[in-house]
Amino acid sequence: MAFSSFWKYCAPLSLLLLLSCSHTARGQAVEAENVTVLEGGSAHISCRLQNYDGSIVVIQNPRRQTLFFNGTRALKDDRFQMVLFSPQLVRITLTNVSVSDEGGYFCQLYTDDTHHQVATLSVVVLPEVPIVEVKKEAVEGGLMELSCVSPRSKPPATLRWVRDRREIPGVISQQENGKTVSVSNTIRIPVERKDNGAALICEAFHPALVGQKRVRHYSLDVHFAPTVKIIPPQGILREGDSLSLTCSVTGNPLPRDIHWTRVNDTLPERAEKTGNILHMSRLSQSHNGTYLCQAHNNYGRAADHYTLLVYVSPTSHPAIAQPTPPSFRFSDVHKDPGAVVETHSAVPYAVIGGILALLVFTIICVLIVTIWCSVRQKGSYLTHEASGLDEHGEVQEAFLNGNDASQGKKEYLL
Ligand SMILES: *[C@@H]1O[C@H](CO)[C@@H](O)[C@H](O)[C@H]1NC(C)=O
Ligand SMILES: *[C@@H]1O[C@H](CO)[C@@H](O)[C@H](O)[C@H]1NC(C)=O
Ligand SMILES: *[C@@H]1O[C@H](CO)[C@@H](O)[C@H](O)[C@H]1NC(C)=O
Ligand SMILES: *[C@@H]1O[C@H](CO)[C@@H](O)[C@H](O)[C@H]1NC(C)=O
Ligand SMILES: *[C@@H]1O[C@H](CO)[C@@H](O)[C@H](O)[C@H]1NC(C)=O
Repeated sequence: MAFSSFWKYCAPLSLLLLLSCSHTARGQAVEAENVTVLEGGSAHISCRLQNYDGSIVVIQNPRRQTLFFNGTRALKDDRFQMVLFSPQLVRITLTNVSVSDEGGYFCQLYTDDTHHQVATLSVVVLPEVPIVEVKKEAVEGGLMELSCVSPRSKPPATLRWVRDRREIPGVISQQENGKTVSVSNTIRIPVERKDNGAALICEAFHPALVGQKRVRHYSLDVHFAPTVKIIPPQGILREGDSLSLTCSVTGNPLPRDIHWTRVNDTLPERAEKTGNILHMSRLSQSHNGTYLCQAHNNYGRAADHYTLLVYVSPTSHPAIAQPTPPSFRFSDVHKDPGAVVETHSAVPYAVIGGILALLVFTIICVLIVTIWCSVRQKGSYLTHEASGLDEHGEVQEAFLNGNDASQGKKEYLL
């Protein structure tokens, strides 16, 4: 019986011939087991034999192509391997299973009454981590529409949206794609500026994931119009000072260009713009004006203004200006508002200094005169002179509350 190579090529034809040729064997039977396997995995297809008497065993794929003819490979597909052929069990394995391999595999035993059983191969496709599609972008005050999509699974995955551990109900839709299913869960939620960056989660569940889930994190990207605020400098500004105006900008997307202008005028020549900072060194009164910071994105525009007034410096010599005298430094450090007050505060220092010097001089004079007088005899002609000095002493007293003068007076009265 050397016809096995012939059978290999005309297996379906063989049936009739076989029926007439082979000897009868009562009680022979075959049993097949259904198989479920993950896509990409390996399937073991088994045909159990009962009372096997050496008949030909043929295994066919769902398209009824013969894979193995009594142990010999018939179809050129290396993914199929015959791993066992015993009188009890014939087993083949299929590696790297795909959904197209699904279907009934035939275990046939060619006897006088041809016997066959079908092993159904089912392929399970696990969902990937779902993807998020933005159907309608989030704009402050509007409704955003988000879809969570699991493009391939079998049986279909279950999707749910979660925010702060609470489920957001959505609209589920399924679309069959050959043997797999695409599932989506679409939510519509109102969004505000404060929702920007909020964390959402889309979870995919699947029976074959046994309790586990595939999770996609998504953070809300809420677009909003810019806000603009100029951070003003502290205190007043004088000629020669330098000034940095910072324009604080928000917005989503963050405005890329920040526009500085001066109302009804051009920006001063020496003004430098770096990012959101406008810098002006050595201010002069020609810098006076209203400065505008403007920014825009696709969702709106915003502006803020700052009015600059440059005051005359207290030393008031624009030509000299550079080496700052101590009094100027003092006011510079303290930045007391109001130039007028400061100009006044500078003047009394000079006046008080002068008065003090005068007083000290007077005290010395009085002392000298007093000593001189006490050394000499008390003369009536001196009394007149002393009364003049006395007046001086009273003035002194009023200023200092000191007792030098009164002492001098007492001494004189002795
Ligand atoms: C095998 O699967 C097929 C198709 O799904 C089904 O009709 C049959 O009853 C199953 N057989 C066994 C033994 O589970
Ligand atoms: C089929 O293969 C089995 C096992 O190798 C063998 O025992 C049997 O004789 C073969 N049958 C035919 C008809 O070649
Ligand atoms: C498994 O099969 C798929 C197509 O079904 C193929 O793209 C992939 O390369 C195969 N993997 C291996 C390891 O053979
Ligand atoms: C700019 O000029 C217009 C018209 O001359 C005037 O009405 C407006 O007050 C000016 N604005 C400033 C900030 O100077
Ligand atoms: C600039 O502003 C200061 C303060 O108000 C004012 O005294 C001065 O006259 C202004 N100078 C010019 C050129 O406008």
